[in-house]
Order: sequence, then C-alpha cells, then structure tokens
Amino acid sequence: MNILITGACGYIGSHFTNLLSASGERNLFAIDNLSTGFKNSIPGSVELLCCDLENTGNIEDFIRGNKIDAIFHFAGKIIVPESVRNPFLYYTSNTFNTCNLASIAAKSGVKYFIFSSTAAVYSQPPDNRPIDENFQTNPLSPYGASKLMSERIISDIFANKNVKYANLRYFNVAGAALDGSNGQRSPNSAHLIKMCCKAALDKNFILDVFGNDFNTKDGTGVRDYIHVEDLANAHLKIFDYLKNGGVSQVFNVGYGRGHSVFDVIKSVERVSGTKLKYQIKPRRSGDAAEIVSSNKKITSLTSWRPKFDNLDIITKTALDWEKKLR
Ligand code: UD1
Repeated sequence: MNILITGACGYIGSHFTNLLSASGERNLFAIDNLSTGFKNSIPGSVELLCCDLENTGNIEDFIRGNKIDAIFHFAGKIIVPESVRNPFLYYTSNTFNTCNLASIAAKSGVKYFIFSSTAAVYSQPPDNRPIDENFQTNPLSPYGASKLMSERIISDIFANKNVKYANLRYFNVAGAALDGSNGQRSPNSAHLIKMCCKAALDKNFILDVFGNDFNTKDGTGVRDYIHVEDLANAHLKIFDYLKNGGVSQVFNVGYGRGHSVFDVIKSVERVSGTKLKYQIKPRRSGDAAEIVSSNKKITSLTSWRPKFDNLDIITKTALDWEKKLR
C-alpha cells in the first residue's frame, strides 16, 4: 500500500508516521507545511512534500504520481481560543482544505481516508455520563465546528464512491513516546498536562486552575486523557477494520474514564517529586464539567486495546519530554 499522511510532522501525525514505519510499512508519503511540525520528527525514508494543502494542483499531482491508496489526514489547526479570534483561518485550514483533499482523493483512486476529528464536536453533556458517538453534536467553538463540517463533507463526498472512511474523535491527547524520542513540540500549546509540567520545571510559574466549583468529584474539570501512542495505534486498528470490510463511520478514541485537574496535578507531583504551585481562577469560558468518552464502539469493532491507560505514564512521559526540550 502507498500511504499518505498529512500533517505528518506534527505531534500526533509524527507519532503515527513513526508507528507505521516501525510496523514495516515502506511506501510512506507525507505532506506538511512545517508551520508547527518538524521534519526531523519522522523517518528520513518518508518522502515529504513540504506544501500547504491549499495548493491543490501540487497535492493532486503528489497523490496521483505516488498512486496513493490510503490517506491519514492529520493536518489542521487545533487551538480553540485562536479559532474564536480567527474563525476564517479554521474554516479554510480545516474545512476548506479537507473538502479539497477529499474531493481529490475521490477522483484519484484512493481507497481509504482516515480523518482526525475531535471531541470538541459534541455539545456539553448535561450530566457526567460518558459520551458515545450518537451523543448530540453542537460544537462550542469554530474549531469544533470546522471539524464537524469536515466530517460531514467526508461522509458526503465518499458516500457513492469506492472510498472507505473513518472520522476519529480524539479526546484529550497527551504524553510522549516512552523512549523519549518524540513528543509535543509546539510552543503555543497550553493544555493542562503541558502547563503542569511547566509548573514542575519552573519554580516561578503558577498554574491556573480554571474553576473548582464544577459538578465533579472534586469541583475541577474532568477529562479523558489518552496517551498519544495509544491514539496512534487506534489509527492502525481502524485501518485494519476498514481493510477487512468494516463500515465507514465515526469512532471516539479515548479511555472511557476521566481524571480531574487535581488528579493531574497530583500525578505530576508524584512523577516529578515536586509540589506544584497553583491558584484557583474563574472557569474558562465554554469549559464543560466532565467530558469522557464511551469507547465501546472502537473496542467492540476493532482489536484496539489501550496499553498506557495510566495517568502517571502519561504525565511522566510528558514531563521527561519537556525536560528534554529545555
Ligand atoms: C482541548 C480542546 C479540545 C481538544 C482537546 C484535546 C479547548 C477548549 N479544547 O480540550 O478541543 O479536543 O484539548 O486535544 O482548548 N485547565 C486548567 N488550567 C490550565 C489548562 C487547563 O485548569 O492551565 C483545565 C481546563 O479547564 C479543563 C482541563 O484542564 O478542565 C483540560 O483542559 P485542556 O488541557 O485545555 O483541554 P480541553 O479544554 O479539555
């Protein structure tokens, strides 16, 4: 198979590309504009086209020229507050570019299309029950909306074509490679685990805890943190499912259980041996109390089983990686 990975040099894309390469896949092709990714995050044997997805002529030539069979589409913008400030950027970079890529795929002999979507497509859960794929969608941000529209476009474009697709809704992706070879390198990331690592490594940094009055076990927000290597592996298992005759559809990718902000702080304290300084701040606008996946679908339809469903492994690998970056 000739496999194309867009956004291959980014955080999740590079973990997946390395996994594919380690699994023995040889004909790997990548597209990345290197705006947030790093060329040296992926093996040198992967043929990289450094290009924006907007350049549809180049993209089509690359896909046709390399007789691509499968596309894993990771490229996109992922910062929620940025999407609120600049929705146009998100509707072009995420929705418009995905539309173009899917339409090129549909006419270029591509057989499989696997898309990086997000739990941000869901509406706020009224209670704290795990969210399954049928839960109502109603994104709070342009980021979530840009991904939900992309999902719809993918399913419409491939409906009558011979292309199998899967839209993967990621929950809170975190952690780094266990051997310390790869991790989150984007300086703009402000996710909780990254901020906790910062507080562990920088004695002057005070972590903001956004709200301690949610209806959760300890009042702080609860999320389903999934290790990036388990997430990468989920793509392989869903690919196998599709190749074995599986049906095109949406999948949640999460562990199915949540950890609070205080759980994460305690975990980083354990793995770092440092007490974190934090202060309670007002709730961040749009934050839900508890967002946890139901992963029944992926675990019943595919052979995916989490290997690193342990908060301390997630925080320890993230912390080791942050130390290495410094
Ligand atoms: C974010 C994205 C979401 C994406 C997900 C996984 C937002 C609003 N959402 O989810 O679209 O799918 O990552 O990549 O950005 N918190 C603090 N202090 C901090 C940072 C976070 O208390 O400095 C709290 C938040 O209020 C929340 C939890 O930690 O309760 C997790 O926050 P964060 O890591 O930013 O991820 P989400 O917002 O859940």
